[in-house]
Amino acid sequence: MITVHVLNGPNLNLLGRREPQVYGHMTLAEIERMVRERATGMGVAVTFRQSNHEGQLVDWIQEAGAQGAGIVINAGAYTHTSIALRDAIAGSGAPTVEVHLSNVHARETFRHRSLIAPVSLGVICGFGPMSYLLGLEAIHRALAERSPQDTPSKH
Ligand code: DQA
Repeated sequence: MITVHVLNGPNLNLLGRREPQVYGHMTLAEIERMVRERATGMGVAVTFRQSNHEGQLVDWIQEAGAQGAGIVINAGAYTHTSIALRDAIAGSGAPTVEVHLSNVHARETFRHRSLIAPVSLGVICGFGPMSYLLGLEAIHRALAERSPQDTPSKH
């Protein structure tokens, strides 16, 4: 079964009350519910986690790689600063899609650079909670292409 780890970085536990004009009103628990519902429909197993700690995220990326799972990651501010997360993604070999709620390119210039984008399959940003669903769709397709036996047959 295709497994996807959805990893969330710092301050995303505050979603719903954190700068709602930028990040909207949905809580992370509500996003998790939405992602799980979609994943169930796709036949994808999901692990959904959040941490404010860089090293914890490194451990989870390594875990996903060891399990042969894919990753959808909103690394929050670590996106723009963390060589450790970049190295973890590259080193774990886990196919990864980077997602953001906001359009980081329409914001401050320090958000325009992502250290994890070069080691990710692609980046989805600016669609609010839907960025997670698009990320799930993207990683599902990428993983299904890698292991066609996991793809439901099309009769
Ligand atoms: C974010 C964008 C980042 O720049 C910011 O630091 C976040 C959230 C987003 O989802 O839009 O914490 O990743």
